[in-house]
Amino acid sequence: MATMKAVRIHAYGGLETLTYEEVPLPAIAQDDVLIRVHATAVNPVDWKIREGYLQGFIDYDLPLTLGWDVSGVIEAIGAEVTDFKPGDEVYARPDIKRDGAYAEYIAVKASEVAFKPKAIDHIHAAAVPLAGITAWHCLFESANLTAGQRVLIHAAAGGVGSYAVQLARWKGAYVIGTASARNRDFLMELGANEVIDYQTTPFEEAIAPVDMVFDTMGGDVQERSWQVVKPGGILVSIVSPPPEEKVAAHQCRSAYVFIQPRADWLTEMAQLIDAGTIKPIVETVLPLSQAAEAHKLSQSGRTRGKIVFQVRD
Ligand SMILES: NC(=O)c1ccc[n+]([C@@H]2O[C@H](COP(=O)([O-])OP(=O)(O)OC[C@H]3O[C@@H](n4cnc5c(N)ncnc54)[C@H](OP(=O)(O)O)[C@@H]3O)[C@@H](O)[C@H]2O)c1
Repeated sequence: MATMKAVRIHAYGGLETLTYEEVPLPAIAQDDVLIRVHATAVNPVDWKIREGYLQGFIDYDLPLTLGWDVSGVIEAIGAEVTDFKPGDEVYARPDIKRDGAYAEYIAVKASEVAFKPKAIDHIHAAAVPLAGITAWHCLFESANLTAGQRVLIHAAAGGVGSYAVQLARWKGAYVIGTASARNRDFLMELGANEVIDYQTTPFEEAIAPVDMVFDTMGGDVQERSWQVVKPGGILVSIVSPPPEEKVAAHQCRSAYVFIQPRADWLTEMAQLIDAGTIKPIVETVLPLSQAAEAHKLSQSGRTRGKIVFQVRD
């Protein structure tokens, strides 16, 4: 049986459960493509799944290969696939219910795959799908953000935030981001109009009301954010569902988003990347064999942009 290297978990738990091992090559269904993985990115959901936080929401049959961002080259296609051929360079945010991309190969539904941006390498392309689709969904699908509106983006320097800042500016919104002082200049260069240092300044005392709050933090940050949403505005959270009574009390709207694969949005983002309008930020590149180090970094909550695994040259 053909095998490949992958990082899997055989049980939920700490960093020690990440096992770099030889596993069978994935089989492809008729509507799948087999992607030779060049790079895959780390997302907080990876270590949340590893620690068992998503049990009850998604029931996995362990062992499980983690990682739901991929950039690579099509190796083989299922009998029903017509949009791609072997040799095509692609990227995707694959279905989180299946084995992920911390591996040399991954089977992905063709409908979840888009052509990779041409202007960037696989390492940067792998940093786009999950975080980019999340930002796109929240800004444009949930909030329908338009030019001239004001948006507050929490954790603006993180994986999701760094796309949200760029996409919101592209739409013509006025962008306020929260971050620590070390990320101020970085965010102004990325397109933020204002940066609030959350470590020294309570954002709710520092800014005028906004049309949208993008909540990437939950907890106390979400709680304090109600004070700055305009009546008729919206709070969109990717961390915890906003309570109904808060929405009613502040006469605003809310959404809780858990993203799904969207190849059409990846195609639009590839065009924006190739045009130089948005760019992925990659802070750290590691080999798959250092998965534990990558998760430790991600769990620190201080990543600027993304952590990426380079799987092959
Ligand atoms: N529901 C969904 O579909 C979905 C999709 C994607 C992500 N998520 C969730 O969304 C959250 C964010 O994801 P991510 O990938 O963007 O995380 P991330 O890249 O790990 O975020 C790291 C960033 O958070 C900033 N940060 C930490 N504490 C902060 C605070 N109190 N205020 C403002 N910024 C702070 C850090 O900036 P400093 O270093 O400057 O502090 C750092 O740049 C995670 O919980 C993730 O699981 C959900």
